[in-house]
Amino acid sequence: MASSNLQKIQGDFKNKDIVSLSQLDDKSVLKLFEKVSLVRELGEKGLPSDLLAGKIVVLLFYEPSSRTRSSFDAATKQLGGQTIVVENPQQFSSVSKGETFEDTIRVFEAYCDAIVLRHPELGSAERAAKTAKFVPIINAGDGAGEHPTQALLDLYTIWDRKKNLSNLKGVMAGDILNGRTVHSLLEGLSFFPGNEVFLLAPEELKLSKSDFEKVKARVKLHEISSIDQIPKDCDFWYWTRVQKERFKSEELYKRVNNRYIVTKEILNKYAGKVTILMHPLPRVGEILEEVDSDPRAVYLSSQIRSGMYVRMALLAMILGKL
Ligand code: NCD
Repeated sequence: MASSNLQKIQGDFKNKDIVSLSQLDDKSVLKLFEKVSLVRELGEKGLPSDLLAGKIVVLLFYEPSSRTRSSFDAATKQLGGQTIVVENPQQFSSVSKGETFEDTIRVFEAYCDAIVLRHPELGSAERAAKTAKFVPIINAGDGAGEHPTQALLDLYTIWDRKKNLSNLKGVMAGDILNGRTVHSLLEGLSFFPGNEVFLLAPEELKLSKSDFEKVKARVKLHEISSIDQIPKDCDFWYWTRVQKERFKSEELYKRVNNRYIVTKEILNKYAGKVTILMHPLPRVGEILEEVDSDPRAVYLSSQIRSGMYVRMALLAMILGKL
């Protein structure tokens, strides 16, 4: 989880970098959600918007992405803005000629109003934010660090269903150690009182000791190792993929991969009637397709759509338009 000398949002997103969810607080999250309702209405009614007309957002992605990149792209365009998509700059930009990360950031900031960055190194978004002088940096995933906009859309998905972000009980399963979406979501849940999370992971993929200590004062945490330890009355299940790209060897990955697979039977036995089943995606076998049609499964429906609306509102707020 990121350092504490990042600029706090305190309800004012204008021109601020979004590097870590720890920059936010309960009021900032709820203020964002108010604006999400506005842009969502535009989207649902199919109303065109020119809120971001004249604005250019660079999507600088050093790591693969489907949803995050496309939803930022769609979010910008839905509001009348434009994007420059730079995928795999290691191969297709001057990075391949040896240009430094810092110079790359300095160059792209000259062309745009905001940079959305995904990079394999933990701390890279903070480095970019320190380097960029003129435009805000939005962290779209820094290695095994954080993924704050995913957490915001995850929180929105829960809030949209439960109308509440306090006194929730949930389970997070899979790669708790390396899963940046898990790290950011835990931080977000800690803004609201009374939340309780069951962390289901193999021994090798448990939350790091330091992160566990940081979070535990604010979210009641329980580490569990088998599905039958999940309490029946959870508000949400948050399943994740084992982060293969963070492993030193294939053998190590195979040893811990897919220990916990959600099947129809598992869901019916251990989840409650109103538990929602979330996943940041991609899934690689940890939720079977037979589960997709269950009304509690939101990972292929509202969770994805929420992603675009949350990113629309966030961009408009950061660019001073909402
Ligand atoms: C996540 C990521 O990149 O961290 N994907 C996403 O942005 N929806 C989760 C993952 O890759 O497992």
